Amino acid sequence: MKFNLAGIETYRIGPAGALVLTLVMCSCSPAEPEAPGMRSLVESEFGSLDGQSVKLFTLTNDSGAEVAITEYGGIVVSLMVPDRDGNLGDVVLGFEDLDSYIADTPYFGAITGRYANRIAGGRFEIDGTSYELPLNNGPNSLHGGLKGFDKVIWRAKPTESGDGVAFSYVSADGEEGYPGTLESKVTYTWTDRNELRIDYIASTDKPTVVNLTNHSYFNLKDGGASPILGHQLTINADSYTPIDATLIPTGEIAPLAGTPLDFREPTEIGARIEDAAEQLAFGSGYDHNYVLSAAPEGLTLAATVYEPETGRAMEVLTREPGVQFYSGNFLDGHLVGKGGIVYEHRSGLCLETQHFPNSPNQAEFPSTVLRPDDAYSTTTVYRFYTR
Ligand code: GLA
Repeated sequence: MKFNLAGIETYRIGPAGALVLTLVMCSCSPAEPEAPGMRSLVESEFGSLDGQSVKLFTLTNDSGAEVAITEYGGIVVSLMVPDRDGNLGDVVLGFEDLDSYIADTPYFGAITGRYANRIAGGRFEIDGTSYELPLNNGPNSLHGGLKGFDKVIWRAKPTESGDGVAFSYVSADGEEGYPGTLESKVTYTWTDRNELRIDYIASTDKPTVVNLTNHSYFNLKDGGASPILGHQLTINADSYTPIDATLIPTGEIAPLAGTPLDFREPTEIGARIEDAAEQLAFGSGYDHNYVLSAAPEGLTLAATVYEPETGRAMEVLTREPGVQFYSGNFLDGHLVGKGGIVYEHRSGLCLETQHFPNSPNQAEFPSTVLRPDDAYSTTTVYRFYTR
């Protein structure tokens, strides 16, 4: 049961004991009240880990579209948006309960850090001091190590505007081998225009490296019940970072023209995926960093995805210089997710906005070093609509 009263805040206890906070802001006159929206923010228990409770926040916007995010890994657990007939459907892969995320997940929906993507040999230097990270991906360190930001509990608070939740995590000096105490805050905002805006800020007390992203797997058709091969993708990039056999950039920035990686024009993902797979020594499909043709300031349109059967579309806007397009190559049918869906090969796609892989060891790439006087700040928006 939901009720909204214009101009006032209402609190109530929801069906499963969930605390419901409904914020309605309206400048309507008493004579002509505006139709009340459906906006709400519901806080519920998602489970517990090491004796600590882990919450789930469900944000519903005025049209009834909703996103649910948990404190474990800051994971986007579900994202319900309409198709062209107005039917809501979940467009992200994931699980129904916390224990499944703890047991085995390929970073479904998670905040990845302290350094998203790979660092070659798990080694880097800052100001002449070398640091060593655990190797968890062949000879490399991937997504922050053995216990990256996807596997920790973030503490969350609703934002004052009522349409978002801010997740905070303090990573200790030396955690997973990284120097400096890093205080991170990731704010998810769910707008009435079906935009999931993610604002990341961080600060450190010693020089360190930072690269934060969200690792949601999208399937705009059916949330992962079928392959993403019929989705049409456009990536606003003329060049990419070629990689070696372990997916570490060679350092070169190469043109996309004439390669199966070129998505400058809308193209079905399945059209050339086998050609792309042939060139990839590890994994089978796309797993590449695109160098975005970025606007000098502000948000750049990085990519657009369109699913013709449902009419659902998604734009990805970012302030990051790159985006990793990953076509769910390592999904192999062993994970069973929400609604009993078996996540088969290539049933989800990721567009991970980020700095380039292995930047700490590539002086030519945009720097990922954060110093005590610097403020890390970046934004990515996933915008959903239909055509
Ligand atoms: C990123 C990597 C992939 C893979 C996935 C998670 O996209 O580039 O190689 O590790 O994360 O499975």
